[in-house]
Amino acid sequence: MKIAVLGAGYVGLVSGACFADFGHEVVCIDKDPERVAMLMGGRVPIFEPGLDDMVARNQRDGRLSFTLDAAPAIAEADVVFIAVGTPSRRGDGRADLTYVFSAAQDIARAATGFTVVVTKSTVPVGTGDAVQRIIRDTRPEADVAVVSNPEFLREGAAIEDFKRPDRIVIGLEDERAREPMSEVYRPLFVNQAPVMFTGRRTAELIKYAANAFLATKITFINEMADLCEAVGGNVQEVARGIGLDNRIGGKFLHAGPGFGGSCFPKDTRALVETARESGAPTRLVEAVVAVNDQRKKRMAEKVVRACGGSVAGKTIAILGLTFKPNTDDMRESPALDVVHELQQAGATVRAHDPEGMEQAAKLMTGVLFCDSPYHCAEGADAVVLVTEWDTYRALDLDRLKTIVNVPVLVDLRNVYRRPEVERHGFTYADVGRGA
Ligand code: UDX
Repeated sequence: MKIAVLGAGYVGLVSGACFADFGHEVVCIDKDPERVAMLMGGRVPIFEPGLDDMVARNQRDGRLSFTLDAAPAIAEADVVFIAVGTPSRRGDGRADLTYVFSAAQDIARAATGFTVVVTKSTVPVGTGDAVQRIIRDTRPEADVAVVSNPEFLREGAAIEDFKRPDRIVIGLEDERAREPMSEVYRPLFVNQAPVMFTGRRTAELIKYAANAFLATKITFINEMADLCEAVGGNVQEVARGIGLDNRIGGKFLHAGPGFGGSCFPKDTRALVETARESGAPTRLVEAVVAVNDQRKKRMAEKVVRACGGSVAGKTIAILGLTFKPNTDDMRESPALDVVHELQQAGATVRAHDPEGMEQAAKLMTGVLFCDSPYHCAEGADAVVLVTEWDTYRALDLDRLKTIVNVPVLVDLRNVYRRPEVERHGFTYADVGRGA
């Protein structure tokens, strides 16, 4: 099967490489000459475990290629995936569909024969209809079926999620697309991955509903953590106690500094906007967005309290900058708010992250980036664990104590146990596990 993928960003690259690994012939198209040159030279511009190898292997075997030139690749393809970015529009939180619509025009102009056009980018309900309209308006004789096939990839585990999905959702209005879409995913049927065919609008909505639900779960447990702090409870035990109920489930119940990343913040905001516009506001999701935004800002207060009420003139060491481990992605990372608020309060910030410092440097000013957690902790009045990278899970606390100025550990991911940390002479603050 011949597949073209428009957009060699995170979703496009992972999908393209995995489709090639299934045995399909895949061309990834991108408008950024630097990115394409890099990929043609065998270098992958994003950090995702296993992706480099998969790209290299399939490139070598001739199943995966990269190009700037969309038209020939689209003309050849049986199925064209739209995997371009849908950033939040500045100001109103709605998804910016400029790139999706421009991809639709490119496809209209270049498609030959019957072509299945699939939106993989996360797009608001009704975008499939708009893509179909644009293709018809651009070139009425283009013979296409427009499908919605949302991705549910977690950064850092994207290949695993792609190859062992909980489900595959395919939303279509034109029955002719069913067979080719089944063909695209056939290799996964062996593992009996559930495939769900639905209407196109429903598929678009499933993606937003899934992310909004998971974001709600996280926000719920974060509020329970605050309540635990207020009344003296242990949020990890609360999470386990409710998670063992099969109707609730134990996943996505880790309290922390609030959710970030490229999906949850953007998708919850976009869902809120769509719902408001449609006259069916999602008040629950509105609250989730507001509570999470506020939470990220308020995490710095925890540090200030742990430092005795002020961080003015003090040095704070931040361990972990990315929104979660195993990625270099800084988008909407809680660390951005924590660092900003601490600087506003007069602190000097040092920071370390195994993969994210290059991206972080573009978004932060006045931060001293360090090459190891211990270098970062030098002279610190508090060490703050913001992202739970494995390298921070077993810090040598005795060594750390000789390096810092004041032994204070603020653990925003509940990685450590209080008695152990206190035994090493540190003052310890965590999230919702009581004193
Ligand atoms: C998410 C979805 O999981 C994925 O299905 C979707 O397609 C894209 O968005 P991702 O953003 O890569 O994936 O990361 P995820 O592991 O889901 O974490 C998102 C955020 O929630 C992170 O900031 C993480 O730290 C936070 N989180 C997650 C918690 O605070 N607690 C949890 O229990 C789980």
